[in-house]
Amino acid sequence: MERIQLTDDLSFSRFIHGSWRLADWQYSTKKTLDLIEHAMDRGITTFDHADIYGGYTCETLFGDALNEKPSLRYQMELVTKCGIVLPSEQRPKHYNTTKPHIIASVEQSLRNLRTDYIDLLLIHRPDPFMDPHETADAFVRLKETGKVRHFGVSNFKDHQWRMLESHMTFPLVTNQLELSAYHLENFEDGTLNLCQEKRIAPMAWSPLAGGSIFNGTDEKAIRLRQTLQEVGHEIGADRIDEVLYAWLIRHPAQIMPIIGSSKKERIDAAVKSLDLSLNHDQWFAILQSSMGHSVP
Ligand SMILES: NC(=O)c1ccc[n+]([C@@H]2O[C@H](COP(=O)([O-])OP(=O)(O)OC[C@H]3O[C@@H](n4cnc5c(N)ncnc54)[C@H](OP(=O)(O)O)[C@@H]3O)[C@@H](O)[C@H]2O)c1
Repeated sequence: MERIQLTDDLSFSRFIHGSWRLADWQYSTKKTLDLIEHAMDRGITTFDHADIYGGYTCETLFGDALNEKPSLRYQMELVTKCGIVLPSEQRPKHYNTTKPHIIASVEQSLRNLRTDYIDLLLIHRPDPFMDPHETADAFVRLKETGKVRHFGVSNFKDHQWRMLESHMTFPLVTNQLELSAYHLENFEDGTLNLCQEKRIAPMAWSPLAGGSIFNGTDEKAIRLRQTLQEVGHEIGADRIDEVLYAWLIRHPAQIMPIIGSSKKERIDAAVKSLDLSLNHDQWFAILQSSMGHSVP
């Protein structure tokens, strides 16, 4: 599989597998390991996590599977996130991007994932209470101690990216964004343009709109499904998820879609989309179908 070079010493597989829903699947450790190996056999070596996924349980489920075959760790890249604190009896949901919180969160992620380093740490969401100097200082500390190799953000708009990066001594390497043919906001508001300006490849979360595109009954979902079927027929796709992935891959920003599926055949469909090619008109047909009108 094609690889995307994020820095001189870090590359990701073009497709990434995500663990947000891992706890919902109720997989045994063996079945989780089997899915990880299935993805890796197809060249998907990058795995996306967050401290909070599954109510703080998904990293451990993945780490338990990895513990069955520790040698896999050195053939994969692990991404995790921090900064969101889920509600508890004591405190409401909030964000925390202070140095002590970031460092404690990473140390817990290392224990959960049964590893001694994270390849990429992301701040999960922009924090209106962020002290960027302190956040950047936490990154320096984690880099110096070898616990995290590189840093990025998720869901940051242009100004939030620039603010944090202006306090850093090394560059942010990616922005993980909601990007799909169904959700166009980041295509339209300059967020993706900043990635292109900075020459950084974005990671795309919910590339299939969280699955809602397959059964959504709203006008947009129905319209988009129809167009995806038509374009899919033209390009020889077997299913519309292949077309959704091909649409993202075709964009010049080197988007890295994160597959959220629990099923091997759906991982295979993502990989197959790399062989499909949309022409200019087909790309715009899907865009306009999602917009519900022609470009001006
Ligand atoms: N940074 C952030 O704020 C953020 C937010 C959300 C997610 N993420 C990351 O992005 C990853 C992917 O997000 P996602 O899970 O929403 O991705 P997605 O690929 O858009 O959605 C996956 C969901 O769609 C379902 N699905 C896939 N193909 C289908 C089909 N043909 N028919 C019906 N349902 C289908 C899957 O069910 P099956 O399991 O049955 O295939 C799964 O429940 C997450 O795991 C996480 O790592 C990040």
